[in-house]
Amino acid sequence: MIYFDSAATTFQKPPAVAVAVAEALAAMSSPGRGGYPEAMRAADAAFDCRSELAGLYGLANPERVVFTLNATHALNIAIKSLVPPGGRAVVSGYEHNAVTRPLSALGAQVFMASAPLFSPEAAAEAFSRLIDEKTDAVICNHVSNVFGFIQPVEAVAALCRSRGVPLIIDASQSAGILPLDMPSLGAAFIAMPGHKGLYGPQGTGVLLCGEGVPVRTLLEGGTGSLSIQAEMPDFLPDRLEAGTHNMPGIAGLLAGVRYVRERGVESICQQERRLAQMAAEELRRLPGVTVYARPDLHAQAGVVSFTTQSLPPEELGMALAERGVAVRAGLHCAPFAHRSAGTLESGTVRLSFSDFNTKEEVERFLDIMEGLVP
Ligand code: ALA
Repeated sequence: MIYFDSAATTFQKPPAVAVAVAEALAAMSSPGRGGYPEAMRAADAAFDCRSELAGLYGLANPERVVFTLNATHALNIAIKSLVPPGGRAVVSGYEHNAVTRPLSALGAQVFMASAPLFSPEAAAEAFSRLIDEKTDAVICNHVSNVFGFIQPVEAVAALCRSRGVPLIIDASQSAGILPLDMPSLGAAFIAMPGHKGLYGPQGTGVLLCGEGVPVRTLLEGGTGSLSIQAEMPDFLPDRLEAGTHNMPGIAGLLAGVRYVRERGVESICQQERRLAQMAAEELRRLPGVTVYARPDLHAQAGVVSFTTQSLPPEELGMALAERGVAVRAGLHCAPFAHRSAGTLESGTVRLSFSDFNTKEEVERFLDIMEGLVP
């Protein structure tokens, strides 16, 4: 199978990830639950994973790295910590349902910093017009899951700092692909999945919490600390990590993050963008194909959306699946992104690459496309 659906989850993982998962199942119990070797091994793996992630994002304190089930879970904690019911949020025009649905559940007033695709300057200006002292939080996805649009998070962070408004960055599609330095951004939270560009197993996610930022629990329960107390501990990560940890997942995530740090995010990004550029260029030559990318892939990561005149996206996605190519077609849980790009009616077919894809796979996909697009 040719797997071009890494924006949903990376399927090809570094081999060390599966080894770490199996070793954790065989040798680890729960961190913080005892001083015996199995518990200590789990505590060490959890700490090492927090430390690697803290290193990747410039955090001095690994305890501000919180494990979650996925990015959606992390975003829910972040949003519900900062936006009260009926509160005010400023968001980009490219947010995922993982942001817009929690805001809707809160009955929040949402102000959208609308901007055309691949126009980071226009996006920054739109944010600048909307952020004011009444804003409870600004939420911006770093890279659009549908179009790969790299949003100007540095400029948005500067606006938030100067206007004293907390910023949540959704790094779901940028984690492991683009660098971020949390202290210099001054972000309140950065949320990300463990199972996409960080190459961990599904069921892993991460929330990075800024110093001094208030956090609200979504779940309460055992933490292995302050057990006599009725309330959750007030310190991180315990406050946000009720219940038994996903140790096989965390051990796998540790191996994934180590792979990313050894390989380097810049090298991974370069490789994915090379494939995206090749796919975009060649798809554009096919009759009736519209590709959502600038020729130089300006402000775009390794994700390419396209449509064809001959087949609706879902049908094309099915046809590709029958021919051994995995893509995602439709609205990608991001109707607002499609609305911003003018593709809400049709949806798109999305190709999303990982470090494990090759030029030969793109060539094979293009051959298949030539057969499908008359
Ligand atoms: N948000 C993920 C995607 O874009 C699941 O496919």
